Amino acid sequence: MIILVVGGGGREHALCWKLKQENANHDLHAAPGNPGIAELATCHAVDLSDLNAIETIARELDVDFTIVGPEAPLAAGIVDLFRFKGLAVFGPTQGAAEIETSKSFAKELMTRVGVPTARAEMFEDAAAAKQAARAFGLPVVIKASGLAAGKGVVVSGSLADADRAIDWMLTDRAFGESSSEVLVEEFMAGEELSYFALTDGYSVLPLAPSQDHKRLLAGDAGPNTGGMGAYSPVSLSPGAVNETVLLPTLRELARRDRKFTGLLYAGLMIENGESRVVEFNCRFGDPETEAVLPVSMLEPSLGECLYSIARGELLPSEAKCTVEGFAVTTVLAAAGYPARPVLGAVIDIPRIPEGVLVFHAGTKRDDAGRLVVSGGRVLAVTGLGATLEEAQERSLDFAEAIEFEGKQYRADIGFRELARRATETAKEKTTA
Ligand code: AMP
Ligand code: GLY
Repeated sequence: MIILVVGGGGREHALCWKLKQENANHDLHAAPGNPGIAELATCHAVDLSDLNAIETIARELDVDFTIVGPEAPLAAGIVDLFRFKGLAVFGPTQGAAEIETSKSFAKELMTRVGVPTARAEMFEDAAAAKQAARAFGLPVVIKASGLAAGKGVVVSGSLADADRAIDWMLTDRAFGESSSEVLVEEFMAGEELSYFALTDGYSVLPLAPSQDHKRLLAGDAGPNTGGMGAYSPVSLSPGAVNETVLLPTLRELARRDRKFTGLLYAGLMIENGESRVVEFNCRFGDPETEAVLPVSMLEPSLGECLYSIARGELLPSEAKCTVEGFAVTTVLAAAGYPARPVLGAVIDIPRIPEGVLVFHAGTKRDDAGRLVVSGGRVLAVTGLGATLEEAQERSLDFAEAIEFEGKQYRADIGFRELARRATETAKEKTTA
């Protein structure tokens, strides 16, 4: 098949890798892609905000279908445009993507159909929001309703912090239109899980569950980032979330003429075996995809499932995903990330050993053809193994081996899973 992948990060590199892994004959194209993707696909330089240019590439290549990676083109309506032009495309329409792009829409929908989530109220007025924060109790969560590149959430431990966050978002318009409305939300304790499911709008095919590591430093310290690593699978049980979360959400979206097709990502908070929704995303997560795809074995293949969904067909009822082995992904970030990433450092990647995959996220070739840092998150190094420990060791060893000036990474990706196992082993010993 001729397939176009829209985007140029680690997620898109992992998608291309998986498609090639399943079928070496696929003719892959990426817009714009990156130097890593260029080893698997033909890259076409394009500005991701120029939807017409992307559509022209798809039409001129006569692709069988297009897969959209990032949220921005989905929010801008790329799927609506492709459908209008009669092109098969994997991803939700602009209206369906609001499940991610408008937190107030998502919250209202969840509340309406009884999907478990944190209690929240929506405000456009700062004084009213501050008053609500006082009634919620501490800690309290302040969120911009619109897209804010993962920076629009402030968990406030004091009312002074909450007031500052409200002023920053509503009064100073920290995220422009995206923060013209804020949610004041109840804080949820527990452990987070990223739950990805392919969907034709009616049924779901969940992939291996994963866990992101959003903070910059080991032990979940330091500032929030786009994600410093992930592992998959996760032993934490989300409970019956297909029935309590995904299916009711999809039914309600369809009922509102916003049928969601593509990948629905439920960010869950799990406490005492119960899952509540932190947020929905309308696309594959990054860096989770770099850990999820290597361990998720689909039948029919991922490529065939995405193709069916892109053409508006139903997922085959016998479609299934089995999980094989473990994957740990360590992100290598640029110096100064996340506040002010320093770009331009030359990257040296030694020969990649067995059991390791290196996905490019923020790299480019300079005029001399050297691989250099071009974004905050530079590379995602996935280690594979029969055990989590083996996968972690492989990821970490190669994360250390790759060199560029100012490289930052966490050496503890997967630490919660290891801690959970240690607790369980201790429990077994006391009961034995
Ligand atoms: P979001 O952009 O909604 O995923 O939020 C980013 C991060 O903020 C989440 O991954 C959580 O770690 C945290 N967060 C968001 N909402 C809550 C909440 N209600 N309670 C606790 N933590 C939250
Ligand atoms: N890893 C979080 C996200 O993709 O939104």
